[in-house]
Amino acid sequence: MNQKYHSPEKDNYPGSKNSLNVLQSIIYCIFSYICTLIYNYTGISTMITVNNLDLQFGKRILFQDVNMKFTPGNCYGIIGANGAGKSTFLKIISGEKDPTRGAISMGPGERLSVLSQDHFAFDEFTVLNTVLMGHRELWAIMNEKNGLYAKPDFTDADGIRVSELEEKFAEMEGWNAESDAASLLSGLGIKETLHDCMMKDLSGKQKVRVLLARALFGQPDNLLLDEPTNDLDLETVGWLEQYLSNFEHTVLVVSHDRHFLDSVCTHTVDIDFGKLQMFAGNYSFWYESSQLALRQQQQQNKKAEEKKKELEEFIRRFSANVAKSKQTTSRKKMIEKLNIEEIKPSSRRYPGIIFTPSREPGNQILEVKGLTKSIEGEILFRDFNFNVEKDDKIVFISRDPRAMTAFFRIINGEEPADAGAFQWGQTITTAYLPLDNAAFFNSDYNLIEWLSQFAQDTNEVYLKGFLGRMLFSGEELLKKVNVLSGGEKMRCMISRMMLKDANTLILDTPTNHLDLESIQAFNNTLRTYKGNVLFSSHDHEFIQTVANRVIELTPNGIIDKMMEYDDYISDPTVAALREKLYK
Ligand SMILES: Nc1ncnc2c1ncn2[C@@H]1O[C@H](COP(=O)(O)OP(=O)(O)O)[C@@H](O)[C@H]1O
Ligand SMILES: [Mg+2]
Repeated sequence: MNQKYHSPEKDNYPGSKNSLNVLQSIIYCIFSYICTLIYNYTGISTMITVNNLDLQFGKRILFQDVNMKFTPGNCYGIIGANGAGKSTFLKIISGEKDPTRGAISMGPGERLSVLSQDHFAFDEFTVLNTVLMGHRELWAIMNEKNGLYAKPDFTDADGIRVSELEEKFAEMEGWNAESDAASLLSGLGIKETLHDCMMKDLSGKQKVRVLLARALFGQPDNLLLDEPTNDLDLETVGWLEQYLSNFEHTVLVVSHDRHFLDSVCTHTVDIDFGKLQMFAGNYSFWYESSQLALRQQQQQNKKAEEKKKELEEFIRRFSANVAKSKQTTSRKKMIEKLNIEEIKPSSRRYPGIIFTPSREPGNQILEVKGLTKSIEGEILFRDFNFNVEKDDKIVFISRDPRAMTAFFRIINGEEPADAGAFQWGQTITTAYLPLDNAAFFNSDYNLIEWLSQFAQDTNEVYLKGFLGRMLFSGEELLKKVNVLSGGEKMRCMISRMMLKDANTLILDTPTNHLDLESIQAFNNTLRTYKGNVLFSSHDHEFIQTVANRVIELTPNGIIDKMMEYDDYISDPTVAALREKLYK
């Protein structure tokens, strides 16, 4: 890489008025030459350094005294509750927002790029130009150069300027820019026929991919991504995981997607209680190790050596698992650096999600015969036959997410099928979490009143118990339900489900709007749940760890496999079948 050192003072040099100035410039030249050598041979001078950072809005302190270094080759996953300040932290690093106190510094001449969250900002540009513009300096040079060439009265001065620009352009490997941008786009599944289209003519999914290409274009030294997997399909998420685990520079990423965090992160930065704490290891390592440390803290009579041994054993087991995974060597190196001293109990609060079936399901659970459904003339599924077997935890997937929602609504009696029938077993009791819960929250009940609508026992203490497990307490219980945020509504809906003691759960995209703690708690409980689960989800980890059966709904039939999700998506016969069925 061609990185040059720039000093703002150098350009303002007031000429060599005296020998001191000459000496200074010689020293400066030698110094920058050495710096360049160090940089070129080791790369160690590139990093983001955060010094004594504070941020507060009015009286509210988001974080205080943050001192941290982010170094190349590492990917930092930033986690924290909604509103903890994750996006704000990234904005301070990118310079979009000023901190209350403190400073951010980067290596000299380093480029930083941000994955834009605004999906409409580039509507009036072509796809290829949107990507090229990601390298601001290069884009400016290209524009100025082209402007000069197009001048009818091209002067000598213009000639000199153009040659300067051409030199810079060549230095930045500008001649490869368009082909680099095009191959980046094609790698992301944006075909060449689309490269000259306007951004506004692209679908939402395609736009996200172009914005990704824009952020990655020109190999920035530092890459900031704020929830990049939102609105991405699982296939593109997989591509991004692969790309980032091979990325040699510094990445900071905010995400609620555990599979994504685990595949790309070498470090975890937790924003909690106004502090930022950095840990070596990915999300799972942070979660599992801090839970283990928490259990140890509670076992007071256990000897310190035993605790240490247990933690060491944990690191050993964890490292063995990472080594088996598909990650690249640079990412694997992180496990060599895992340090037992860093393992601390988590201060996070996890909701207590527990579903206890009041009776065991019998053998007849759900029988579906010849079910067919279409929306506005488009077939979602046709002649769909299957039986739910004992212990089945089934994930339903489809390229058309409306298929799952329609199926769940049908078996819950909320809408009729076009044809076919279904039959629930005698022993089966269901609890259903619909995709759209707006209709539940039209009243101005408070939380306790709201939940009492669904309970046989309306004792306040009893109801508060269920809300408390979803981390609602005190004043919050008296909030009106119609003002709740998306995440809070989900937590209410989960309290309602827990009341039912059902032996079959039907969950339409249950992780929507939930924070990492709730997702983790929900995920854990479903793994050990002693009933049947029928669900759909965008969360790879959730699907992989809960489902033991995969059913894919297509307009031309279903694929029904008793296997885990990772095996399903990597199975070549399944892949061939899918291509045939979606035609
Ligand atoms: N300009 C602002 N003035 C006051 N409060 C703000 C401002 N910008 C963000 N906030 C608040 O700061 C908190 C952190 O926001 P954000 O960084 O977006 O959280 P996160 O990304 O972790 O969900 C939120 O409670 C938000 O409402
Ligand atoms: Mg945010």
